[in-house]
Amino acid sequence: MFERRLRSWTGLVLAVYVISHLANHTLGLLSLDMMEWFRRLNASLWQHPVGTVALYGSLLTHFLLALWSLYRRRTLRMPLWETTQFALGLLLPFLLAAHVIGTRINQILLGFDVTYPYVVTILWNDPRYSIQQPLLVLVVWGHLTVGLHFWLRIKSWYERLVPYLYGLAVLLPALALLGFVRAGLETDELITDPDTVRAIFAGWNAATPEQQALIIGLEAKVLASLVLVLVGVLVARQIRQLLRDRHSSYRISHPSGQVVSAPIGQTILEAMRAAGIPHASVCGGRARCTTCRVRVGDGIDDLAKPSALESVALRRIGAAPNVRLACQTRPRQDVSITPLVPARADARAAYRRGGVQGYEQQVATMFIDLRGSTKLGEERFPYDVVFILNQFFAEMAASLQATRGHYAQFSGDGLMALYGLESGIEDGCRDALKGAVDMNRRLTALNERLGVELREPLRIGIGIHCGEAIVGTMGPPSSPNLSAIGDNINIAARLEALTKDYDCTLVVSAVAAQCAGVDLSRFPAHQARVRGRDEPVDVYAISDPAEISGDIVDRHPTAMKDSQ
Ligand code: HEM
Ligand code: FES
Repeated sequence: MFERRLRSWTGLVLAVYVISHLANHTLGLLSLDMMEWFRRLNASLWQHPVGTVALYGSLLTHFLLALWSLYRRRTLRMPLWETTQFALGLLLPFLLAAHVIGTRINQILLGFDVTYPYVVTILWNDPRYSIQQPLLVLVVWGHLTVGLHFWLRIKSWYERLVPYLYGLAVLLPALALLGFVRAGLETDELITDPDTVRAIFAGWNAATPEQQALIIGLEAKVLASLVLVLVGVLVARQIRQLLRDRHSSYRISHPSGQVVSAPIGQTILEAMRAAGIPHASVCGGRARCTTCRVRVGDGIDDLAKPSALESVALRRIGAAPNVRLACQTRPRQDVSITPLVPARADARAAYRRGGVQGYEQQVATMFIDLRGSTKLGEERFPYDVVFILNQFFAEMAASLQATRGHYAQFSGDGLMALYGLESGIEDGCRDALKGAVDMNRRLTALNERLGVELREPLRIGIGIHCGEAIVGTMGPPSSPNLSAIGDNINIAARLEALTKDYDCTLVVSAVAAQCAGVDLSRFPAHQARVRGRDEPVDVYAISDPAEISGDIVDRHPTAMKDSQ
């Protein structure tokens, strides 16, 4: 908690400095004199002892925190934005060293006022610095804006301000660089007059050759030290990892069926990232957004209590006791988890309270129902019925896993599944059709296996439709689940019911077939009436789902690997 606050506050001080400094450069569009006038004003703050401690204290603390984070991170796999911010941040001291030496250190060691004409003349006329300095502006600005954006985007007021902030984020560095160029051109004229040159460099020329040599040689020493520190941290990190790997590990069972092994000490989120399993983490693992939350099944009792930081975040969303933040939880024993927010969730998923923590998303929905399940109970012991039903559900679950379906709801003799939560609607529809084919195939195999146990073979009805729905975590507080509600979900349920009327196994809406890029026009077409909807829904009725397997162009050959 303290570490996070320190990072934010020191970052904020640095941001204020950079903004005031870049604002200073924009005045170069008017004149070098204006730049210099504003510098004196600005210097009264930043060169005041309090300003100096704030600026350089923040710079040092911010840098040390970055090194600490590099050392502690179990994996360097991060989302793109975080990698960008991290890389730009580490690049900064290397680009900044010469500049600070040439300004503040110069001023302290040689005792002269470092002015804009002096700095701009040097930067503008030096082949290396005339490139490095604008690059520094872009790197600082990239690091700062990405950092601020990912910090503030979960605040409710931020979304409203984005258009203005976006404008500012583009304008300020652009104007600052133009100001620098315009001031640079002005120095081209100034240096044609030897007296002016003498005046600009009077402070520097007054220094002894030893002092000058000291300043000039300083950059190489600072850069070498920076490299040493960075390499040292990376080596220490490696040693730490080696030592840790010698200790035991824990395993995470994921609803996708994958079991991930992770070294003790690694968070669940880090383990997911290392295993390449997509997992929501809007704030990048800083316990701010809660989108990484998971419901822990097995192993919940063995987990250490949430830290103060995690508790605050969990309390804010009114989470049940078995809900934990994946980015903060470091299990020591095996656990099973259910992510409660889709991996592709954005900032809107953060801090949503109440039963439905949802947002609109395009999904493909499938309803599956076991036909005549009541008959199953006749003349059978309850034990047998439960056994058969569990066999059936095990097969359906295996199918979902093999075709990237997400189990959403269970209803006695049927279930609801969502497709495309992570992969998008088109892949979702294709996967749902593949799921239907696979379920039918598994059911046939199950019927053969159960043989004499069944008086007549088990049959299923499947309905598939797609469209916008409210997707989110819903259900009683102790066992919420990622599910969906909305008109399109009701339509999918209705299509499943229609399999009885059309005496077929699968009813697919024309929209879902089109989305999947599959031509089903050779199958009987119907216009289905759905309660609460004036327009009928165009559907296809398919008796044997195996007949469509050749129509689904498989963009993801691995998606059904378990079912081959
Ligand atoms: C074209 C780009 C830049 C120009 C022309 C420029 C110019 C100057 C000048 C004239 C000074 C000395 C006067 C003062 O203290 O304000 C200075 C100091 C400084 N600049 Fe820049 N600068 C540029 C970009 C940057 C960037 C991107 C950073 C990023 C953090 C930066 C950080 C600093 C720092 C830390 C000091 C020392 C401040 C102090 O100790 O009071 N500069 N710069
Ligand atoms: S990733 Fe944001 S709270 Fe865990």
